[in-house]
Amino acid sequence: MSESPTSESLITELDELGVAFSAEIAALASEPDIRAAQARYLGKKGRVSEALKALGKLDPAARKAVGEVGNRVKSGIEAAVSARLVALADAVRQADLARVVDVTLPGRGARLGTLHPMTQARREMELIFAELGYEVATGPQVESDFHNFEALNIPKDHPSRDMQDTFYLSPLWSGAATETLLRTHTSPVQARTMLRQPPPVKIIAPGAVYRRDDDPTHSPQFMQIEGLLVDRVGKVSMADLKGTLLHFVRRYLGDDLQIRLRPSFFPFTEPSAEVDMSCVFCRGAGAGCRLCKGTGFMEIGGSGMVDPEVFRAVGYDPEEVCGFAFGMGIDRMAMLKYRIDDIKTLYEGDVRVLRQFP
Ligand code: PHE
Repeated sequence: MSESPTSESLITELDELGVAFSAEIAALASEPDIRAAQARYLGKKGRVSEALKALGKLDPAARKAVGEVGNRVKSGIEAAVSARLVALADAVRQADLARVVDVTLPGRGARLGTLHPMTQARREMELIFAELGYEVATGPQVESDFHNFEALNIPKDHPSRDMQDTFYLSPLWSGAATETLLRTHTSPVQARTMLRQPPPVKIIAPGAVYRRDDDPTHSPQFMQIEGLLVDRVGKVSMADLKGTLLHFVRRYLGDDLQIRLRPSFFPFTEPSAEVDMSCVFCRGAGAGCRLCKGTGFMEIGGSGMVDPEVFRAVGYDPEEVCGFAFGMGIDRMAMLKYRIDDIKTLYEGDVRVLRQFP
């Protein structure tokens, strides 16, 4: 700007700005660029706005004429902007329409998921017991002390009640210990089922259980499958228990396998037995087998004849009924079947693992 603009020089300058703007945006091909150019001319500190500041120095008679030119240039710039944007959108649409689509290309199918190996294992086990006439029963994972311990004849000072083993739940607002916990086994479903119905009972209860345990073969959450059969006294024996478990193991992991009941103790069964089956790696040979440490057997669960105290707790008459119960780890059985050596593999959800179980 010269020191004292004349109305002629200002009009010329404004007209030149209009021409310069047209030239500038002709070369721009994106909306942000065009908007930026618009701001460079019409923005508060834009070239046109700057030029128009000289208006105040003109005498009033000249102002009107120059002002009109200013307005014309401004609206010219605005019109050029919208025309350019419309042209741009149109070009995009034309390009889209002109695109050739090969409708004969094969489609990209959505990949279907598969059932998790743990789900597959649970369902297969349920099926084997269903064939024997067992029904599937369930219970809550957040349990009461009564169902998880008391009804199962687990005394107050039993180690499985210890804070070391059990996840007790306490209300957020108080932090005080409660009688509510994450169930430590599926055995409370035994109590719940018997409380709900009269004998006979023939159920399996699969589901998640929780213990403060964490290493390659123990996860704080794992899966058990519980079995309970109750009938009139004289109709159920330990031989039935053993036959049932043997049938299950053979049907699930192979006809050549054996089982072995080892004397043990559970507060809710009497007598009680640990359930061992032939090692799935050496098939019971033992000698030199790393996995069963040469014994030929591996432990898969606990079992026994239902303790009379349990019947009393649920209102069954132990003089009238008797039964057996067992509990096995679904994770453990699945790991043995699929040859998985770290239980975390089953809980990480790594698709490279999951894909191996179509
Ligand atoms: N509930 C026992 C456990 O978690 C297993 C078991 C079930 C034992 C039924 C005997 C009868 O270890």
